[in-house]
Amino acid sequence: MRVIGEHVTFTHPGGERPVLSDLMMDLPAGSSTAIVGPSGSGKTTLLSLLGELLRPQTGRFSCVDRHGRVFRPRDVATWVLQTVSLLPDRTVSDNVRLGAYLDGADRTTADLRAASALARMSLADRGHESARVLSGGEAQRVAIARALASARPVMLADEPTGQLDGVTTDRVLDALLGSAGRTVVLVTHDGRAAARCDRVLRLDRGRLHPLGDAG
Ligand SMILES: Nc1ncnc2c1ncn2[C@@H]1O[C@H](COP(=O)(O)OP(=O)(O)O)[C@@H](O)[C@H]1O
Ligand SMILES: [Mg+2]
Repeated sequence: MRVIGEHVTFTHPGGERPVLSDLMMDLPAGSSTAIVGPSGSGKTTLLSLLGELLRPQTGRFSCVDRHGRVFRPRDVATWVLQTVSLLPDRTVSDNVRLGAYLDGADRTTADLRAASALARMSLADRGHESARVLSGGEAQRVAIARALASARPVMLADEPTGQLDGVTTDRVLDALLGSAGRTVVLVTHDGRAAARCDRVLRLDRGRLHPLGDAG
């Protein structure tokens, strides 16, 4: 699924200047893209607009499949949010199964996908535990497992390795970048994570620039 942004301009309510300014982007189907930029440059805002949690003042984001059919990103994408949001009163498995139920999976399918996603996050034996007892890094991996349990063709992840050590980061990136055909957008501060993506775009003054391009 190709992910397209056309002339997107957005100013937060009460904000003084646009966070995104006539932003253009075109991410090929099945590609992985790292979006980097200093804190406050608008990376989370960009993902929030893609998810239609916010609405741009001008322009639009869209997704296009290989037959040329156009979709709203929120209908074909799954998210790993910067602020991990698990249901604390439910088990780890319940939280991960939600990712599969989002696509209308039945209970059996959801169980299989949750078990597989937890194994890929090295949490295979933690499924029965309450989400409340997890450390920050464990909760982050459960949130990633929940996204992996979905079969949606676009994955949007905001600093998904922010709380992980190097070895765990590599394993998480293997899982995030290893699902064939999925278009992945990875917002990150982590050079190690960015280097593993097909391309790196820098968000600067409201627009995306290829890394190394003074733009
Ligand atoms: N809800 C909001 N209301 C007003 N300003 C906001 C809001 N959220 C973020 N901003 C501002 O928008 C800019 C971009 O923020 P953000 O997208 O979170 O950046 P990043 O994720 O790159 O650190 C910052 O200047 C921030 O202060
Ligand atoms: Mg952010």
